[in-house]
Amino acid sequence: MNIRPRRTRKTAISRNMVAETRLNKDMFVYPYFVTHGKGIVHPIKAMPGISHFSIDTLIEDVRKGLQHGINKVLLFGVGEEKTEDGSSSHSHHSIVPQAVSALKKEFGDALYVITDVCVCAYTSHGHCGILEEGYVNNDKSVDLLCKMALSHAQAGADMVAPSDMMDGRIGAIRETLDDHGFVNTGIMSYSVKFASAYYGPFREAADSSPQSGDRKAYQMDPRNGNETIREALLDEDEGADILMVKPALAYLDIIRRVKDATLLPLACYNVSGEYSMVKAAASQGLIDEQRIVMENMTAFARAGCDIIITYHARDIVEKGWL
Ligand code: PBG
Ligand code: ZN
Repeated sequence: MNIRPRRTRKTAISRNMVAETRLNKDMFVYPYFVTHGKGIVHPIKAMPGISHFSIDTLIEDVRKGLQHGINKVLLFGVGEEKTEDGSSSHSHHSIVPQAVSALKKEFGDALYVITDVCVCAYTSHGHCGILEEGYVNNDKSVDLLCKMALSHAQAGADMVAPSDMMDGRIGAIRETLDDHGFVNTGIMSYSVKFASAYYGPFREAADSSPQSGDRKAYQMDPRNGNETIREALLDEDEGADILMVKPALAYLDIIRRVKDATLLPLACYNVSGEYSMVKAAASQGLIDEQRIVMENMTAFARAGCDIIITYHARDIVEKGWL
């Protein structure tokens, strides 16, 4: 007997035939930062290739993406009035609901619009909820998040994505949406979100850094694995449609564990720091950007992700990397 695993590695055709992981453009979600104004395409220094858009330029950029098959976007609002209680987070005049209704008016069901639901870009203190004597009050924050999610649903969002990590928010948001007739508005839960240094560039992009302290009293401790399963199963019970692990690269073990523990579709968020590190190294000629990006995407899919939220999505489809 002569067992040779190299046999099926011999040519591209046989390698493709036995490939266990196959990426597909339907997996990708592309994030956008939206701001008030007109004609704005303002590059974000910390995230080469990513910009702030106003609604008019957003529509044109989304149109380009759609031509390449990027038909799912995740919206973040930037530049809204910041107050102690984060009240602009659920105003109908805020940029996210405005952008959602403009996008849905322009593209209808050809575009799937997901909105990030979190108040850190809307609070003066930059925390993801209501701050009381240095501690984020869970239940008051959940009330606020419900209002924010509802305002996005009312604007026409297909799915809301709570990224705050308060306890019980998925159930509360589900109930709020259902009570108002939005039974078909989905919830993608950032169920397993770690307190991570990989969000650094994003916080510049969204102007959402906490003014004091950090997010460790609500986001998860990177040392914990079992707890991620508890978080994931709670969100499943509370009615989430999709679960998420975030960040992605340093948490592939968690992706696999969560995938094995649930039957829900699983997303990962390939976050700003992961993106910017690749971009920085590539711009210095230290790595081959295409190969590194596709190796990372393959790793997410192999680890168990059905959906990949990534700032690389446009490069991947427009440059024909798939
Ligand atoms: C808001 C939010 C953050 C990200 C997504 N939603 C930042 C944070 O929690 O500090 C990070 C996204 C990225 O880094 O690309 N809570
Ligand atoms: Zn937040």
